[in-house]
Amino acid sequence: MSQPDTPRRGKVAVIGAGFYGSTTAQRLAEYDIFEEVVLTDIIDGKPEGLALDMNQSRPIEGFETRVTGQTTGRSGDGYEAVAGSGIVVITAGLPRKPGMSRMDLIEVNAKIVRDVVENVVKHAPEAVLIVVSNPLDEMTALAAKVSGFPSSRVMGQAGMLDTARFSYFVAEKLGVPAGSVRTLTLGSHGDTMVPVPSACSVSGRPLGELLPAEEIDKLVTRTRNGGGEIVGLLKTGSAYYAPSAAAARMARAVAADSGDVMPVCAWVDGEYGISGVYLGVEAEIGSAGVRRVVQRDLSDTELAALREAAEAVRAKQADVAALLRAGDAALSRFASAKAALSRSCASQGGAGPARRRGPRHRRGRRHRTRRSRSDWMARSPGPRPAGRRRA
Ligand code: LAC
Repeated sequence: MSQPDTPRRGKVAVIGAGFYGSTTAQRLAEYDIFEEVVLTDIIDGKPEGLALDMNQSRPIEGFETRVTGQTTGRSGDGYEAVAGSGIVVITAGLPRKPGMSRMDLIEVNAKIVRDVVENVVKHAPEAVLIVVSNPLDEMTALAAKVSGFPSSRVMGQAGMLDTARFSYFVAEKLGVPAGSVRTLTLGSHGDTMVPVPSACSVSGRPLGELLPAEEIDKLVTRTRNGGGEIVGLLKTGSAYYAPSAAAARMARAVAADSGDVMPVCAWVDGEYGISGVYLGVEAEIGSAGVRRVVQRDLSDTELAALREAAEAVRAKQADVAALLRAGDAALSRFASAKAALSRSCASQGGAGPARRRGPRHRRGRRHRTRRSRSDWMARSPGPRPAGRRRA
């Protein structure tokens, strides 16, 4: 049990009270190292209700971190609650439905993430941003661009999750404790995920000595499709236990200024001969975010795959930047994406339009109707002036 007088410091905010966001908030609160965890959502009362529930678990679980829930509105009201946060975890956005790729979410989630980041920046201008919305690499790049923060203060969660999935599959295959397995994935959180067999071991023994190459390949493929496998089983919504564990660990490393080296989506500027792109790499994490990208020796095949992933991600990140500049054209593409996504995601969390449509959510002044959401999209400002944006 925790000690009530244990020093707790700082405030961390989680944007989006879906399953991913709320389990992240719960993990952060149960660490018992923060003074306050703030959970926000656009669904009236949901974050307040979840926060009350979490606070009521404090006497049982023995943590003293205060959890605050706050509904946020279309004009940014409610975001005052994140003021002073040193870390903001952005989970807002639609999750996938079975058969969808993360990339199918790009347009709709770009708008949601942009809106969130603009509001976060106003109230927590010193925060480290940890983005988890999909498609991950693109949404992380977008958050950096919209925030105007130094690239070191914006990172995405993906490598911790993909690596954990890979490690679990290896442990299951070999019948060994999960804790004895070390694996690594770099690159993107998607099709161009790059497994790094040279960094994989079990109790210190190279994985290649314990499993034939074709077995390792099968586990890599299952890892690459790891999120989709769970989406297919759940049918509504996507994974959240392992994802929230990964995001919370990253936030903890920032809070503790730990210097832990973790696979994260970080700005790469010359490492591995790659420049100017957010990509899954190992990085040393501290209070200011990414202290440095940690470059390791890769085999020629691994390096080639990482560079290929960088180019694929770079192209998509450029698409997102163009989308944000594109105004009306972007709106019409958004409309078709929205049609394709209609009825999706109604039962899973995150701040998505499908959740806002029900009559239940139309009544309050805080809630966007279909029409008002379109108005909001049309009125959203374009990218910030060059002075505020990353090069
Ligand atoms: C996954 C989502 C969270 O991989 O990206 O499960």
